[in-house]
Amino acid sequence: MTKLHYPDLQVCVLAAGRGKRMRSNLPKVLHKVLGRAMIDYVLHTVESLRPKGIAVVTGHASERVREHVGQPANLEWVIQDKQLGTGHAVKQCEKVIRSVRDVLIVCGDTPLLSAETLSKLVDEHRSRDTDVTVLTAQQANPFGYGRIVRDSDQHVTAIVEEKDATDVERKLTEVSSGIYCVRHEVLFDLLHAIGNRNAQNEYYLPDIVPLALVAGLRVDAALMESADEMTGVNDRVDLSIVEDMMQKRIIRDWQLRGVTIEKPETVRIEAGVNIGIDTVIQAGCYLIGRTHIGDECRVGPNAVLVDAWLDDKVKVFAFSHIHGASVGSNSSVGPYGRLRPDAQLDEHVHIGNFVEIKKSVIGRGSKINHLSYIGDTTMGSDCNIGAGTITCNYDGANKFRTEIGDHVFVGSDTQLVAPVTIGDRATIGAGGTITKPVPAGGLTLSERTEQRYIAGWKRPEKDNR
Ligand code: UD1
Ligand code: MG
Repeated sequence: MTKLHYPDLQVCVLAAGRGKRMRSNLPKVLHKVLGRAMIDYVLHTVESLRPKGIAVVTGHASERVREHVGQPANLEWVIQDKQLGTGHAVKQCEKVIRSVRDVLIVCGDTPLLSAETLSKLVDEHRSRDTDVTVLTAQQANPFGYGRIVRDSDQHVTAIVEEKDATDVERKLTEVSSGIYCVRHEVLFDLLHAIGNRNAQNEYYLPDIVPLALVAGLRVDAALMESADEMTGVNDRVDLSIVEDMMQKRIIRDWQLRGVTIEKPETVRIEAGVNIGIDTVIQAGCYLIGRTHIGDECRVGPNAVLVDAWLDDKVKVFAFSHIHGASVGSNSSVGPYGRLRPDAQLDEHVHIGNFVEIKKSVIGRGSKINHLSYIGDTTMGSDCNIGAGTITCNYDGANKFRTEIGDHVFVGSDTQLVAPVTIGDRATIGAGGTITKPVPAGGLTLSERTEQRYIAGWKRPEKDNR
């Protein structure tokens, strides 16, 4: 798509509502859809129109919304002290809106909305030379939305809210998206004229429609092509519906960019995730937060990656969990591997089943293949750590480090009691408890009891009589 630019447009985002129906302490627009707050989607979309300015109306828990968003250059915060309705909310923007041709009003609770749709609305509004254009959609289930009322000539005459609608009006399936493009020159006169005599005693923004008609202004509706985009989130049922729609969109996007996704309906890929070409994501995977996956990787089935970094050609086998850790190219993890925060694997590292790594650097080509815990450790390259090796890094109060050189071989069932260092090319015999520095090269054995043989010993047998 060509880059959009609307220098004579001001955007107004409504985000002051408490979101009563969410039943939450969190302001509605901070609720997340695939790991990203609803307000972030809306702001990203309106920013891509490159308008003259963006005014965001906040009220309920406004500090939390501001803290979350920060202070982008062309964004102005507007406070609506009391949430007296959408019309009242827009009215609060009067002082901050600079002189522009049109004002685009968008709700903060419609995260699926695309920049293309908004751009079409503004273009239609302008090409038809209208004063008030409302973006509408056909909804098979119009419940909860304002209904578009048209006269016998199909001209829009009013928008009626669910709670104020008659039985006949409730059957109308053309609904308001809550998004409007209005000529700046007329907007605030209309807003000053609206009243609150309705079922909710609120100053409804939709009431500018009949007021504009009375004033002899031109009012029109622009029907959107994909009705899904306007789905608003008012409660947690809507939240999951919108999340499903967003998930389909994101998965399709990665598929078109060269990622194979098996059983896509079972996979969660959040909005902040990045995936390289020819990577295969198998069924049941959860890719969360800012996870990055390189080219030609294979992940799953049923792996969980949270803020994980995988270089190219990495294999993460079934039921592995990687959180805040990084994996170098050509390495593998799992099945049933666990990498905890600050585990850093270099290239060609192999982490096998039931191995947990925390806050450790594992050098190139090293292998920890079975049933181990490695924490607070620096390990060199080409080490082989035997099954059941544990770094004992914690004395109940303090954490200690284990330093392991290159080409080290640790026999099975060894405890490395930190702080401890192991020199290059050292070999440690199986079953060792290592409490002192291990020199480079050679074999280190910790005290073992003599093996005894008892000839003629009989294993007890079950009495089968
Ligand atoms: C609104 C519209 C409805 C439309 C629907 C589309 C009105 C009266 N109704 O209904 O026609 O079909 O959106 O999703 O406009 N807000 C404020 N201050 C307030 C009240 C609301 O900033 O005083 C904000 C909310 O934070 C929200 C947006 O405005 O982001 C819409 O409010 P909401 O309560 O969700 O309205 P709906 O019932 O969805
Ligand atoms: Mg809403």
